[in-house]
Amino acid sequence: ALTGVFQKMLQFQCHFINGTEKVRFVERQIYNRELYLMFDSDVGHYVGFTPYGEAQAQYRNSQAARLQYARAALDWYCRPNYPIVAPFSVERRVPPTHSQSIP
Ligand SMILES: *[C@@H]1O[C@H](CO)[C@@H](O)[C@H](O)[C@H]1NC(C)=O
Repeated sequence: ALTGVFQKMLQFQCHFINGTEKVRFVERQIYNRELYLMFDSDVGHYVGFTPYGEAQAQYRNSQAARLQYARAALDWYCRPNYPIVAPFSVERRVPPTHSQSIP
């Protein structure tokens, strides 16, 4: 019998460059470790890296509402999450002490 493992990975990243003032949203779709589709808010549209990814990018970019949804992720996804993630990452101005250290 044949067996196989196939992995599809979706990444959604918010980069807080200066608090919520300057933010970058990146969505990546990866299949078996190969990045095939990406949305970068600095670019503003989907980009494909394989024939399938290019078709997906073209399809998504042709849908105004979908594109607008991705572009608006800075406001509905990234900025509202900032208060939640900031204490653990980018905004940590006080170095962690031993009592605060994460195992
Ligand atoms: C970062 O954002 C603040 C406002 O929140 C602004 O006053 C400041 O100039 C910004 N810093 C840079 C380096 O852009």
